[in-house]
Amino acid sequence: MGVITDETLSKYHERVEGKTVIITGAGASIGRATAILFASYGAKVVVADKSLSGVEVTVSEIRSIKGQVVGCVCDVTIWEDLVAMYDLAIQEFGSVDTVVANAGVGEIGGRMMYNPSEGRPVKPLTTTIDVNLTGVLYTVHLAQHYLQLNRPMQDMSPESLSLKSVVLLGSLASWTALTKAPMYTASKHAVLGLMRSLDASFVSRGLRITSIHPFFAATSMVPNVIRLQLAGIPLAPVPRIARTILYAATQSDPACSGAAFWVPDGGGLVLMVSKEDFKPGVYEYIDRSSNATSVYVFILSTSIQQLPYFFNFRGLVGPKYYMRRIYTITQLLWRELVIVGGFTTVVGYSIWARVFHWLCHIGR
Ligand SMILES: NC(=O)c1ccc[n+]([C@@H]2O[C@H](COP(=O)([O-])OP(=O)(O)OC[C@H]3O[C@@H](n4cnc5c(N)ncnc54)[C@H](O)[C@@H]3O)[C@@H](O)[C@H]2O)c1
Repeated sequence: MGVITDETLSKYHERVEGKTVIITGAGASIGRATAILFASYGAKVVVADKSLSGVEVTVSEIRSIKGQVVGCVCDVTIWEDLVAMYDLAIQEFGSVDTVVANAGVGEIGGRMMYNPSEGRPVKPLTTTIDVNLTGVLYTVHLAQHYLQLNRPMQDMSPESLSLKSVVLLGSLASWTALTKAPMYTASKHAVLGLMRSLDASFVSRGLRITSIHPFFAATSMVPNVIRLQLAGIPLAPVPRIARTILYAATQSDPACSGAAFWVPDGGGLVLMVSKEDFKPGVYEYIDRSSNATSVYVFILSTSIQQLPYFFNFRGLVGPKYYMRRIYTITQLLWRELVIVGGFTTVVGYSIWARVFHWLCHIGR
């Protein structure tokens, strides 16, 4: 687990100069602070938010420091809004170098937990999942196309100072169960899983993906009732969260892709949880036991780089494995096997009959 000091967080800031950075939910709080930070280091910033007034304030703050910026109203749950946002970035700045999927909401509706006094259950609102998960899925899916658009070839080399990164906003709730916020917790666990599962395919295409997981911060997302409960506990400072996003976007080491950055309460240190750090403890146990008994990594492999793992699986050799394999394949494909078997027998027999006839003919 790497420890990153406040000074180190902006170590690679020169890499954003002249680069295009898109930030969703940049009309307030963490998104706004991040947009202003990137602009202050010379990035060309696309400020996107559902709220027009929020966009206007962030854009005017960036203009006041002579930053390059364009704003757009964009609801991340609407695919067409996101396409228009990316198109705007290309039209204004020619390329997209970093995408920060920051837009998010807290637990909306509060109906996930069933209260017996309600009687007949009422369909819960899924706004939290729509924004925090579907919105992020859309944003990341499009990012994979737009990050490669107008990308120079030399930019693909690991030594290049290319950013080409996606930063997702997770949360403390990506690891911890917030008992009063099940949809929020589900969405943020999913964001961490999304980041981890996309990492290999991103790296294979010269892209990087990371996620940031702050403790509670003093923003409009955290209502006063929660602030009261947290009274006395130091919160995660918004400027530090913004700097962690900057670090995650600019640290060009491919080994950093797939890492999750934990921004704790108070203190001055951000923790980088690298891919390898996801191994110890319960993760290691599950990893070992699933690798020992299944082929799931092989089946889900998308790149040739992952192929060597296939040969390392314990439990994937020996007669027991092959018997199991034949049994499952037969169960799943018996119809096809019967057809192919019948066809092969008929064709084989007719070939053999012809050959036999021909041999008899020669013998005579
Ligand atoms: N504040 C915290 O304690 C905290 C802690 C951990 C993680 N986070 C995460 O950080 C991110 C930013 O949170 P924040 O505290 O700045 O929240 P915030 O509520 O202060 O700001 C969120 C911004 O997102 C925008 N937004 C909401 N729905 C949108 C949509 N559908 N499309 C586009 N924009 C939309 C809002 O208009 C707002 O400007 C979120 O993903 C949040 O889950 C926050």
